Amino acid sequence: MEFYVNKNIMKTKRIFPKQNRYNFYRFDMNENPEGLPKSFVDSVLKEITPEFLATYPEPDNFVAKYATYMHISENNVLTTNGSDMAIRYVFETFAKESSEVVTVSPTFGMYDVNCNILGLKHIPVEYEKDLTINVEKILNSINKGVRIVVLVNPNNPVGNVYSRENVERIIKRAKEVGAIVLIDEAYHYFYPNSLIDVALKYQNVIVLRTFSKLFSLAACRMGIVISNPTIIHYLRNARLTFETNSIALLFGERILENQGLINNLIESEITGKKYLVSELKKENYVYLECEGNFVLIKPKYFSPLEIEKVLCLKKRILIHSYESGILKDYFRVSIGSEKMMKLFTDAFFDVDKK
Ligand SMILES: Cc1ncc(COP(=O)(O)O)c(C=O)c1O
Repeated sequence: MEFYVNKNIMKTKRIFPKQNRYNFYRFDMNENPEGLPKSFVDSVLKEITPEFLATYPEPDNFVAKYATYMHISENNVLTTNGSDMAIRYVFETFAKESSEVVTVSPTFGMYDVNCNILGLKHIPVEYEKDLTINVEKILNSINKGVRIVVLVNPNNPVGNVYSRENVERIIKRAKEVGAIVLIDEAYHYFYPNSLIDVALKYQNVIVLRTFSKLFSLAACRMGIVISNPTIIHYLRNARLTFETNSIALLFGERILENQGLINNLIESEITGKKYLVSELKKENYVYLECEGNFVLIKPKYFSPLEIEKVLCLKKRILIHSYESGILKDYFRVSIGSEKMMKLFTDAFFDVDKK
């Protein structure tokens, strides 16, 4: 007997992340390769009791703390199961089948995947050959059928950022056609500027943040939506009741209470990136110093794919290369502490030689 399958889901092509990555040095998915200090993790784990695990998650304490930390109101904040899930809710809530979604290309892969799953029409705006993005092209693609415009700021994987002026031009153009602008700030802190104040000034703007990058909680799945109370209300309607798990909320609260820890994470990233870039410079590498926690590097003697394979097999190091497209000559390496970056450069220079 035949059964019904949603045609959009049937046709969606997925590439799932590599498994068994624990035994590798992970520079491939923009996580913190080392994670939070063990003493901090141990102290938070002590709070996890059988009763805590038996109780459904209660996000309100975290939301209040986050709002205070960000100097915004609790009505401006919603937690999700990673910002991945926030993307899905935004698409489900503010678009319908055949609506158009504008993103630059390349960008974070889940934007295209969610378009496919929900039957939305993805309008990719391509980068120029010199890896710059022409904002006029983004503006010109915002036509009447567009319901969502995505700006990943800084973008992953290219690492460019948008000026306030250009973002406001895009927001105003989107408003004319009744579209939402989704600003994904997953890489905030590595890039210190934020557009939250701009977002809260307009009715049609949403900002996404994640605890997976600087805050090093990718395993816990904690995403944050920041917007005006009307948009937050609609997204809360769309969201599952027990969306963000208690362990994520607990770790999130304890991180926000510990500014010293946050400062150390930021400092460690800055020093790590400085070290990596100075080593690449010394060795005359072509690289793109992205605004996120990653750098794009052009190998000298082998293809990025070959470097990826050899680093994985011989050095137990994971990086990310691109089979085709504008980044095919580069691989992306995530930034960690100076110690991690030294481990990476020692291995990479040893592999990329005649
Ligand atoms: C731009 C961007 N947005 C969102 C995400 C998803 O993050 P999360 O772990 O919060 O789902 C990523 C992950 O790499 C990303 O690069």
